[in-house]
Amino acid sequence: MKYNIAVLPGDGIGPEICAGALKVLKKTGEKFGHEFSFTELPIGGAAIDAYGTPLPDFTVEGCLASDSVLLGAVGGYKWDKLPGDSRPEKGLLGIRKAMGLYSNIRPAKLWKSLAAASPLKSELVKDGIEIIIVRELIGGIYFGERGRGEENGFEYAWDTEKYSVPEIERIARIACELAMKRGKKLVSVDKANVLESSRLWRRTMHEYAAKHYPEVQVTDVLVDNMAMQIVKNPAQFDVVVTSNIFGDILSDEAAQVTGSIGMLASSSLGDGTRGLYEPIHGSAPDIAGQDVANPIATILAAAMMLRDSFSLSAEYGAIVAAIEKVLDEGYRTADIYSEGCKKVGCREMAQLICDRI
Ligand code: IPM
Ligand code: MN
Repeated sequence: MKYNIAVLPGDGIGPEICAGALKVLKKTGEKFGHEFSFTELPIGGAAIDAYGTPLPDFTVEGCLASDSVLLGAVGGYKWDKLPGDSRPEKGLLGIRKAMGLYSNIRPAKLWKSLAAASPLKSELVKDGIEIIIVRELIGGIYFGERGRGEENGFEYAWDTEKYSVPEIERIARIACELAMKRGKKLVSVDKANVLESSRLWRRTMHEYAAKHYPEVQVTDVLVDNMAMQIVKNPAQFDVVVTSNIFGDILSDEAAQVTGSIGMLASSSLGDGTRGLYEPIHGSAPDIAGQDVANPIATILAAAMMLRDSFSLSAEYGAIVAAIEKVLDEGYRTADIYSEGCKKVGCREMAQLICDRI
């Protein structure tokens, strides 16, 4: 089979980590008899510099014409002073919206060989952690109406959180499907003690699950309590579903708890099989271009693409096994390095993984 993959390297370490992932994809293709062709397209700050916009039309068209999309990261100090609508981040939000990717799945998993990297006490993480956050991605306050004005001589600004029943139901379906494949337990996070939109979220989650997935047990947790529970007892969670902004915040927290944000990938999907796959971490401009970044999250993102967009589960498994092997052999990039391990750069890490596929 031939697969056309759009590659959006973006900014900072984006290009180096994407290069590592493409190398691994190429090797996997050779091994399993697939042809992956890559079309590189600009996004974020790199697109602003070259084309004056964080998301050129031809990038959107290229993504929509592809079988799936791999993204590095966007943003950097250089563009931090730009107004909201022309920032690099707008490119990422725009491509999510243009591709209709309402479902963002962010697994925060503690890698056994890296358990010592967790900032939590070892008794809290000894049984492993795997929290799968299902984040609604193209609704809520990120895309609600916003504005600025002046009142009584003072400037003000506002954003709106708005969710409709169909928007909640479609993310409920994704979360319930995932829960059915796992422990049949779903935690839904909201702020229903204060927000009207959360009250609709909560009611809809329960009604939808009861009607279509009666075996799934839905438990509600308020977002402030959730923030606390993630550090208090992360092992209690399996599948968690939440809104765009709560998912943004909680997924960083859950990732940090695993101690290895450089190891975590995410998928964003809509109704079809074309998705966008990216590492959870950002563009890390402070270490860009030094060949010290960890390419594993992006390599895992590429592996998720094979599994979730192309139904290539064996290929996914081969990449994950190669990563585990490299870690077991003691190779580490700087972010996950501990004494006694072998420190390697971004390029070498990708090569080591390739060699074990
Ligand atoms: C993320 C990022 C983005 C978000 C930014 C870069 C727009 O933080 O993917 O979590 O807030 O969604
Ligand atoms: Mn984020």
